[in-house]
Amino acid sequence: MAEQLAADAFQEFDGSSQPPVPENVAIIMDGNGRWAQSRGLPRTQGHRKGVEAVRAAVRAAGELGIKTLTLFSFSSENWNRPADEVSEIMGLLKIFIRRDLADLHKEGVRVSIIGARDNIPSDIKPLLEEAENLTRNNTSTRLVIAFNYGSRDEIVRATKKIAEKAASGELKPEDIDQDMISGALDTAEWSDPDLIIRTSGEQRLSNFLMWQAAYSEFVFLDCLWPDFDKVELQNAIEIYHSRDRRYGGVKVAKAGA
Ligand code: IPE
Ligand code: IPE
Ligand code: MG
Repeated sequence: MAEQLAADAFQEFDGSSQPPVPENVAIIMDGNGRWAQSRGLPRTQGHRKGVEAVRAAVRAAGELGIKTLTLFSFSSENWNRPADEVSEIMGLLKIFIRRDLADLHKEGVRVSIIGARDNIPSDIKPLLEEAENLTRNNTSTRLVIAFNYGSRDEIVRATKKIAEKAASGELKPEDIDQDMISGALDTAEWSDPDLIIRTSGEQRLSNFLMWQAAYSEFVFLDCLWPDFDKVELQNAIEIYHSRDRRYGGVKVAKAGA
């Protein structure tokens, strides 16, 4: 796996065509509250406007040929927000799935949800399952919604799964390796993010994809999430293309270059 990462990193781009878009892009959609507050509006209005930016981002990802788009929609820590804000966000998620699922399905988008499932509202759980089941065989963009997601929580859940197998004798502790841990995470079915974008100028992960981000490129945009659009995504991809991914290796200059 490490060899493959290095091989990918050293694949030379010959400059004769467009550089390839990152396969897997993840976005920390931040700044809804500030967008609203700067307009004298309640924070909830920012979340409403943020849903439009979600639609724009999914559409743009499809147009640009991004294979996997992960959107951080609600963290395991976001339950600490005021009850009315949490209930507005829950309501918007329900509306988004009800209104947009058919269109996403028509576009061939496959929806997957990551995050803990045991402590989410009982009316939301079946909607998430419906979105995953309906779109299971779709093959265009994979839209991963991180909902009730926290990276530390995900790692704890993965560790418990592995520990249970060790306790029952199904595996030996010395069999545990990086691939086994990756395979026990919610993201087991797809590759790690090549590019992680965070809007709103904040420069932190806030408990997002910490294991998976080991070799991701980070792009921090000043724009607030409700203002995010295809141009902002293209801007982030351009910055990504200016980076030199080395995966801990060194780049050897080509003979004659
Ligand atoms: C992101 O916007 C949406 C969620 C975390 C659910 P915020 O609500 O965090 O907006 P700011 O950071 O307060 O501006
Ligand atoms: C991260 O944003 C979570 C989501 C975007 C869903 P937060 O606004 O919750 O993060 P902090 O509190 O600024 O670190
Ligand atoms: Mg925030």
